[in-house]
Amino acid sequence: MSKKPKPKVTLHIDDKHFDLPVRQGTEGEMGLDITRLRERTSLVTYDNGYGNTGSCESQVTYIHGENSILRYRGYPIEQLAEHSDFVETAYLVIYGDLPTATQRAQFSALLTENAAIHERMVYLFESYPRDAHPMSLLSAMVNALACYYPHLATNNIDRDMVNINEAAASLISKVRTITAMAYRMSRGLPIIYPKRSLKYCENFLHMMFSEPYDLYKCEPEVARALNLILLLHADHEQNCSTATVRMVASSGANLFASAAAGVCALWGPFHGGANQAVIEMLQAIHDSGDDGTHYIAEAKDGDRRLMGFGHRIYKNYDPRAKIIGRACEQLLNKLGLDDPLLQIAHKLEQAALNDEYFIERKLYPNVDFYSGIMMRAIGIPLNMFTVMFAIGRMPGWVANWREVASGKPRIYRPRQIYVGHTQRDYVPVEKRG
Ligand SMILES: CC(C)(COP(=O)(O)OP(=O)(O)OC[C@H]1O[C@@H](n2cnc3c(N)ncnc32)[C@H](O)[C@@H]1OP(=O)(O)O)[C@@H](O)C(=O)NCCC(=O)NCCS
Repeated sequence: MSKKPKPKVTLHIDDKHFDLPVRQGTEGEMGLDITRLRERTSLVTYDNGYGNTGSCESQVTYIHGENSILRYRGYPIEQLAEHSDFVETAYLVIYGDLPTATQRAQFSALLTENAAIHERMVYLFESYPRDAHPMSLLSAMVNALACYYPHLATNNIDRDMVNINEAAASLISKVRTITAMAYRMSRGLPIIYPKRSLKYCENFLHMMFSEPYDLYKCEPEVARALNLILLLHADHEQNCSTATVRMVASSGANLFASAAAGVCALWGPFHGGANQAVIEMLQAIHDSGDDGTHYIAEAKDGDRRLMGFGHRIYKNYDPRAKIIGRACEQLLNKLGLDDPLLQIAHKLEQAALNDEYFIERKLYPNVDFYSGIMMRAIGIPLNMFTVMFAIGRMPGWVANWREVASGKPRIYRPRQIYVGHTQRDYVPVEKRG
């Protein structure tokens, strides 16, 4: 593809002129390089919410929000969704290319070897309240991995990079075990350990739903649906949690600490927490007897947000939402389930897509709109939806951590525009009032 010529950009400040370099990505997108702006002009930039700020160069994921394009390492998400599975996609996202048969087998074997967690970590679970939110538990347990596997988390980037394959496989494999254990313990159920013979998703469902006296029988459609959910979440360039992972990594912190911070960032309802919020919204609409009309009116008045709608980057359909919407329908049909929340979701989607308010603001369904209905069908409880997102996102966090660590990391340290008090003198307590 022939590249467009770079524009010449000059910044005029009063009577001074500064030429600013322009960087160009492989897909032709351009960014002003302001690395030396403050040094040369004493100005910083202001970009609330970073909507215009490219914080790094990255080779992992490409998104074109206006054209509904999402690619991992150059491969369209639609092709991966149709032909790949989570483990192969995880390899692709982390290492940059689709694995050969040998590489795929080695990666799977590494995941299997690292599935179990240190037995003493069970005591950590026990010290948490039974009803602890699984995202809180997950971030704590992922951070705790650094205590139980210190050779993978030295906080010396060069040493951590030597063991990155084991650390990556541990993280991706153990989050599944941690999640299933948290689920079992919150319900007072016996822990089910990972089984070597099972594939990634089947093993997760086994640890969640098997009983010592009654093994879970995994329908292939269910394993396929779970693979799809995880694969579609595997990376999404510089979103809130991935930027957080990179921020922590830039200080030289190990992979587990960086991923634990990512889990915390993901928890909020404007990010990964949206999948839980969508089901709560659909349930509330269902319980109230509304068909969604009332809810949409409130969203337009600014009193609420239509959860699962809108995206900072996609100003068109989120390509993941299209894939997951279709898959959701197919899964429910295969399992013979009739979920009233799906009917409400369809109505809401149609109403919003034809409403001037949503059209004007380019608000379309995002990945969270249908993923929750699919997870309900699989049997995942509501408060674990965001955890499933986190499990899926681990390869992306690993890839981004690796990119930071394998460059010459410069610590992330944004500036600010200070708008507080100017200097004032200390007032003794008796004179305050
Ligand atoms: C994802 C999200 C946080 C992106 O936010 P953003 O890029 O900062 O967009 P803004 O908050 O600036 O919204 C732009 C406009 O659209 C409106 N808007 C955005 N999302 C909306 C929603 N879900 N429902 C109703 N109105 C919405 C805003 O009120 C704003 O309207 P205004 O210009 O009249 O003030 C936002 O769309 C949202 O909260 N969606 C619901 C939560 C969700 O599904 N998150 C998962 C993302 S994968």
